[in-house]
Amino acid sequence: MSESALFALSDEHKMIRQAARDFAQKEIAPIAAEFDETGEFPEKTIRKMGEMGFMGIEVPEEYGGAGMDTLAYVLALEEICKVDAAHGTIMSVNNSLFCYGILKFGTEEQKKKYVIPVASGEAIGAYALTEPSSGSDAANMRTRAVRDGDFYVLNGRKNWITSAPVADYFVVFAMTEPEKKHHGITAFIVEGDTPGLTRGKKEPKLGIRASATSEVTFEDCRVPVENRLGEEGQGFKIAMTVLDAGRIGVAAQALGIAEAAYEAALNYAREREAFGKKIGQFEGVSFKLADMKTRIEASRLLIYNAAFAKERAKETGERFTLAASMAKLFASETAMFCAHAAVQIHGGMGYSKELPVERYFRDAKITEIYEGTSEIQRLVISRNELGLR
Ligand code: CAA
Repeated sequence: MSESALFALSDEHKMIRQAARDFAQKEIAPIAAEFDETGEFPEKTIRKMGEMGFMGIEVPEEYGGAGMDTLAYVLALEEICKVDAAHGTIMSVNNSLFCYGILKFGTEEQKKKYVIPVASGEAIGAYALTEPSSGSDAANMRTRAVRDGDFYVLNGRKNWITSAPVADYFVVFAMTEPEKKHHGITAFIVEGDTPGLTRGKKEPKLGIRASATSEVTFEDCRVPVENRLGEEGQGFKIAMTVLDAGRIGVAAQALGIAEAAYEAALNYAREREAFGKKIGQFEGVSFKLADMKTRIEASRLLIYNAAFAKERAKETGERFTLAASMAKLFASETAMFCAHAAVQIHGGMGYSKELPVERYFRDAKITEIYEGTSEIQRLVISRNELGLR
C-alpha cells in the first residue's frame, strides 16, 4: 500500500498498522464471510481485539486504553475494515462514540467505571441518539428524562443503535426540558441491565451484518444522577462533539473498504482475459482503476488531515467539525464508488458470494448513511463555509 508523501508515519504508527494488519489477516479473514452470512456477533475476535488494545486506541493507559493518537486509531481501523467492516464498526463505536465522549465530558468516577472495561474490550459500549422520528434531525428527539430525587426516569425509544443487542453500557440522549429544544437535551450513561431498558430484535441488515443493531426502549428506566454525562442541557453539544470524532472513524472504515475493493479489482484486471487480452488493457477497466486509486489517495489525505485537526484541537480547543465531515463525505462516497467499480470489473464473479467483492459493495453503503448521511455532511460543510453556523 502506498503512503502519502505528506505524512511520514512514525515507527509507532507503522507498528500499530502492522499489528492491525496481521491481526485482521490471521484472525478475521478466515471468519469474515461466515459471520457475514450468519449475522452472528463475533464475540471471540472482538475480545481478542480488546486484548490487542484496539478497542481504546486513543484512551490513556490509566483508563485501559493504548494511549495513542488519532492517526494510530485511523490506521488500525482502516486495516481491520479492509478485511471486515463489521468488526470495524464495533471497534469504532467502542473507541469514538462511547469512550471519547466519556473521556471528554465525564467525571473521574465515570471514566474509571465505564471507560476502563470498554477500552480494554471486556465490555461493549453503544451510543443511543437516533429515534424512529428523528434521525438526521437529531435535536427533535422525544425520549424524556425526568428528575426524581437522586434519579432520572427515562421513557422513550431509540433505534438503529449499533451494538445494542450486546452492549453492556449505553450513552443515551434524552430531553430534560423540551421547551428549550436542543438546549434541553441531556446525556446519560445507562447500564444495559437497568430495569426498564429493553432491546428490540436484531435488525436484518444489507451489510456489516456481523455487527448487531437494534432498537432500545426505555420504560420508567431509573438512572442515577451520578450517571448524567455533563450538565443538564449540554447533551446536544456532547452528541455533536462525539459525532465529529465518530465521523473520522467512519471515514477510516470507508477507506479500508475502498482499498479492499480496489486491490481485488486490480488483481482481477491483471489476470482475467477477454478478447485475447488482459482486461486491465482495456480503457473501460484501466480508467476505472485510475479513478479508484486517485479517490482512495484523496480520501487518505482528508482522513489524515482530520486526524491531525483532532489532535490539534486538544491544544487549541477548536472544533474539527469541517475536517471530519469532509473526510467522512469523500471517503464514504469513494468506498461506494470503488465497491461499485470492483463489482463491475469482476462481472458475474463480482455478483457471486464466492468472492468478498459483493460484501464490500454491501458494507460500503452504510458509510454514506450512519453517523450523518452524505446529505448531512454537505449541510455541515456548506453551513460552515457560508458562515451560517
Ligand atoms: N460540535 C459542537 N457543537 C455543535 C456541533 C459540533 N459539531 N454542531 C452543532 N453544534 C451546536 C451549535 O453550535 C449549536 O449550539 P448553540 O445553539 O448553543 O449555539 C447547536 O449545536 C445546534 O446547532 P445547529 O443549529 O446546527 O443544529 P441543527 O438542529 O440544525 O442540527 C445537524 C445540525 C448537523 C443537522 C445535526 O443534527 C446532525 O449532525 N444530524 C445528524 C445526526 C447523526 O449524525 N446521527 C447519527 C447517529 S449515530 C449512528 O449513526 C448510529 C450508530 O450507532 C453508529
